[in-house]
Amino acid sequence: MTALRADGVHRSFDHPSGAVHVLRGVDLEVAAGELVTLSGPSGSGKSALVTLLCGFDQPDRGTVEVCGRSLTTPPPWQLCAVLPQALGLAGELTLAENIALPLRLDPARRGHPVGDAVDGLMAELGIDGLGDRYPAEVSFGQQQRAALARAVITGPKVLLADEPTAHLDRRSAPAAVAVLRRAADTGSAVLIATHHDLVHRAADRTLVLDNGIVSVH
Ligand SMILES: Nc1ncnc2c1ncn2[C@@H]1O[C@H](COP(=O)(O)OP(=O)(O)OP(=O)(O)O)[C@@H](O)[C@H]1O
Ligand SMILES: [Mg+2]
Repeated sequence: MTALRADGVHRSFDHPSGAVHVLRGVDLEVAAGELVTLSGPSGSGKSALVTLLCGFDQPDRGTVEVCGRSLTTPPPWQLCAVLPQALGLAGELTLAENIALPLRLDPARRGHPVGDAVDGLMAELGIDGLGDRYPAEVSFGQQQRAALARAVITGPKVLLADEPTAHLDRRSAPAAVAVLRRAADTGSAVLIATHHDLVHRAADRTLVLDNGIVSVH
């Protein structure tokens, strides 16, 4: 079943030196249970595309659908969760509070304990013991793992991750990839923008974004 779909997506950005046409008709589909990687040169528009696919930005033309629903505003986190390239942790919340936030915002889970889920992901990603720290008090790699835990914690229908291993080392990157792979194996449609071979090797297939369109690797 297709969980994420883009059809004919165009996006340009106005700039004093002239419009920058970044996406020129992107089509893609990711099915539930599938892990798809998106590669492409730096500046090719991977982050711009991820930002559109999670509803944080709108295409100039074309459509994005999450679970059959056309996106005009960001959908609930349990439907579509994102690990942005810039991480986007809330600076006024601790790491544990950031990770728990999507559960706390889900009306269906209000009042349910969240501690075990948070602790389990933090241990798996090697950031246990840092739950009481604020993002500014940990490294980028530790922040990135917290942002990954926050993205997967609800078991979203669609999971987007933008360079999820960019700040990670040889020990922490495989743990992050294992968490992403498990998300797909438990039913999420997972799309990951990445330059990292380790992530591509865990994928079911790879797409390439170049010259504004997506093609099969
Ligand atoms: N607001 C903007 N105004 C003008 N150009 C923009 C704007 N935002 C992005 N761009 C341009 O869009 C292109 C795509 O940027 P994007 O960040 O999506 O690339 P990327 O593929 O994610 O690169 P990287 O691998 O370095 O993360 C770049 O050439 C960038 O300069
Ligand atoms: Mg990017």
